[in-house]
Amino acid sequence: MPFRIIRNDITKVKADAIVNAANSSLLGGGGVDGAIHHAAGPELLEECRTLGGCKTGEAKITKGYALDCKYIIHTVGPAWHGGDRGEEELLRSCYRNSLELASSKSCESVAFPLISSGIFGYPKDRALDAAVSEFRSFLEENDMDITLVIFDKDSFEVSSGIVGEIRQYISDAYAKKCAARDKRNRKSDIVLGMYHTAEANQAVKPSELFGRKKESSANIMLEEADICCETSADLENILKTHDESFSEALLRLIDEKGMTDVGTYKKANIDRKHFSKIRSDNNYKPKKQTAVAFAVALELDLDETEELLKKAGFALSDSLKFDLIIRYFIERGNYNIYEINEALFAFDQSLIGS
Ligand code: AR6
Repeated sequence: MPFRIIRNDITKVKADAIVNAANSSLLGGGGVDGAIHHAAGPELLEECRTLGGCKTGEAKITKGYALDCKYIIHTVGPAWHGGDRGEEELLRSCYRNSLELASSKSCESVAFPLISSGIFGYPKDRALDAAVSEFRSFLEENDMDITLVIFDKDSFEVSSGIVGEIRQYISDAYAKKCAARDKRNRKSDIVLGMYHTAEANQAVKPSELFGRKKESSANIMLEEADICCETSADLENILKTHDESFSEALLRLIDEKGMTDVGTYKKANIDRKHFSKIRSDNNYKPKKQTAVAFAVALELDLDETEELLKKAGFALSDSLKFDLIIRYFIERGNYNIYEINEALFAFDQSLIGS
């Protein structure tokens, strides 16, 4: 998956490069810096002493030593002073410089902590926005697996109250579902009650209790004829797509939407190798998270999304949190997969993409 968010201690993550939120001396400190030095061992400090420090916003590289990575990239985030001392640009340049350094060493995977958001006091929601926006720009032009490692999930804050809105949306959906179930139960109680009363006097069919008129056979024939006409009008389409596999449907939709393969898999947070596999295998059976990611990349509406999911044997239910979050975004025409994944992470759901 080109971009993912996980909860972990970064010293336990395996990647070609692990990024350290250091200070300008590069001689160790607290927070993630302390944890990385502790886990990597004393040789890391020896190499750091030779680097001559590092300016805020810049990045330097060392070997990984005892960590499960080839390199450690040390970057110095800005301390937060209220936001009017160029903090955002400095923070963004930490991400850009670290990614460029990783690329120059041919790394295929990099893990980042949320730089500056601890001891340096950068507001977590803004730190997250800056990080994700830099990852997004980088991934538009480059191939890399980027993992954002969140240490303390409770302090993970998705911006602009979106989590609160989604929470409300989910609880409304549950309430609607319960109301519909209660209504159904009441209706069947009434029908059963009526049926029993009626049965005592004379036999009445339950269908008649709903006040259904007796249709003449001519009416029924007309209705059936209408249905047949509708069916034949749609038949061509149905037949065209009936035997279509998920891969075939996906490639057709990419053409219909005037998108390119690269544009689609990048927008879907799917890596190139995974996409080639889907492209070359007509009978490819994707995971639900992959199928949904393509629906998002293609900016399908809810009906189109259901159609595509059906090809892979899935549906969007109104009982599952994951499905409701996806519905929430699609209904609002928000197809930003990074925002969707932030929200899914905030609700402990699987992310979408590869
Ligand atoms: N794994 C992943 N994330 C972590 C870990 C860990 N093991 N430990 C902390 N975090 P911070 P900063 C998160 O304070 O704000 C040092 O003294 C933490 O929850 O480590 O850039 C340096 O030497 C937070 O979200 O770095 C500098 O002086 C994020 O990592 C100064 O602190 C960054 O928190 C740098 O401050």
